[in-house]
Amino acid sequence: MIVLIGGEKGGTGKTTLATNLIVERANEIGDVLLVDADRQMTASHWCSVRENNNISPRISNIQKYGQTLKTETRALSNKYQDIIIDTGGRDAPELRAGLLVSDIFVIPLRPSQFDLWTLSKIQTLVEEVIYLNEKLKAFVLLNQSSTNPSVKELQDAKELLKEFEFLNLMNAALCERIAFRKAAIRGESVAECNHYDSKAIAEIKLAYNEIYHPNEVINESSKVQQSTRNT
Ligand SMILES: Nc1ncnc2c1ncn2[C@@H]1O[C@H](COP(=O)(O)OP(=O)(O)O)[C@@H](O)[C@H]1O
Ligand SMILES: [Mg+2]
Repeated sequence: MIVLIGGEKGGTGKTTLATNLIVERANEIGDVLLVDADRQMTASHWCSVRENNNISPRISNIQKYGQTLKTETRALSNKYQDIIIDTGGRDAPELRAGLLVSDIFVIPLRPSQFDLWTLSKIQTLVEEVIYLNEKLKAFVLLNQSSTNPSVKELQDAKELLKEFEFLNLMNAALCERIAFRKAAIRGESVAECNHYDSKAIAEIKLAYNEIYHPNEVINESSKVQQSTRNT
């Protein structure tokens, strides 16, 4: 399966999500590939730091840009059962090229940026691409959401997304947690990080299961969300 992490804005948590998901996936199925399609190369940097720190599982990583992203990723999908593509924060050729070969498009968004303008552009893009790639499914993941349970960001986001036929809001959401930043420094996932945070780990696992094991999640999501959002 090919999962593309992308969107219209920078700093929304795309690389954070891509790196955490790829570790979970590697732990479950073995050899997976992280394709860095962002010229800022943050995901590649994370991989080389990981390599230097000898962290296992090792994550295979390549950089691909422009149209070669599509052709090379398609070719590599014969070799790797699972590929995650991390793109930059704009409607670059990489985003379109990647979407043509992907099964799932995950758009992390911070609640403060959860504005109609961004969603309209993403919806239009998905609408265009889905004609050429009918299997594509698009999901919005709320990231850096408040840990204060009185802040009803998920409900607000749900309301807003009702207007967008092609964009589904994930039940999982990542809160603002220092563990996500600490893990990135050493090329780790939150599950591997010394700064242990069971809530961050649970949030990533929930997002992971929603993407890779959608049939198993259904009733678990509300339970985890309630418990992780109380701190
Ligand atoms: N849930 C989170 N909690 C705390 N910090 C986060 C979270 N998600 C992302 N960050 C931090 O925000 C910054 C931007 O995240 P990043 O994944 O690089 O975004 P993008 O790839 O979309 O540009 C990084 O410093 C990252 O560690
Ligand atoms: Mg990034």
